[in-house]
Amino acid sequence: MIVRYATYEDLNTIVALEKLSFPFTTWNKTQWEYEFKENPCAHILVLEESKVFAYIDFWLLYEQAEICKIAVVEPLRRKGAGSILLKEAMKIMLENGVERINLEVRTNNYAAIELYKKFGFEIVQTKEKYYEDGQDAYQMIWKGETCPR
Ligand SMILES: CC(C)(COP(=O)(O)OP(=O)(O)OC[C@H]1O[C@@H](n2cnc3c(N)ncnc32)[C@H](O)[C@@H]1OP(=O)(O)O)[C@@H](O)C(=O)NCCC(=O)NCCS
Repeated sequence: MIVRYATYEDLNTIVALEKLSFPFTTWNKTQWEYEFKENPCAHILVLEESKVFAYIDFWLLYEQAEICKIAVVEPLRRKGAGSILLKEAMKIMLENGVERINLEVRTNNYAAIELYKKFGFEIVQTKEKYYEDGQDAYQMIWKGETCPR
C-alpha cells in the first residue's frame, strides 16, 4: 500500500469514491477541482494498491488544521486504511506546526467517531442540524495532548 499526494489525474477516481462514500454531502467534480487547483490550504492524500481506494482531504491553516474528508471504499474498510491516511495527514500537520485539528462528523457515524477517538480527538460540541439533510454533527478536536498512533 502506498500513501501519496493526490495529483490532478486522481480527480475522477476521487469524485467516484466520494459519491459512494458521502451520499448526502457529496462534493461534486467542480468542488474537487477547486480543492486541487485553487484552494491554497488543501492537502489531498490517496492510498493505493494497484488502484486508488481511499483519500483524505485536509486544510492547513497555520497552527490549525481542518479535516474535511476521509473515505475508504466500502469493501476495504476496517482493514486499517483510514488509520494509515489519518496518521500520515497528522504527521504532515505536526511537521507544519499544527497545534489543533478540527472536524465535524455526523452524530450517527459511529465508525468515523471511533476512528477519530482512537487518534485522540474529543467531542467538544453538538451542532444541531449542521448538515443539509438536517442531521446533527459533533465537532471534534485534537489539541496535541495525545500523539497519533
Ligand atoms: C470512517 C472510515 C474512513 C474509516 O476507515 P477504515 O479504513 O474503515 O478505518 P480503520 O480500519 O483504520 O479503523 C480504525 C479504527 O476506527 C474504528 N472503526 C472503524 N470502522 C468501524 C466500525 N465500522 N465500527 C466501529 N469502529 C470502527 C475502530 O476503532 C478501528 O480500529 P480497530 O479496527 O482496531 O477496532 C470509513 O468507515 C469510511 O470511509 N466511511 C465513509 C466515509 C465517512 O463517513 N468518512 C468520515 C466523514 S467525517
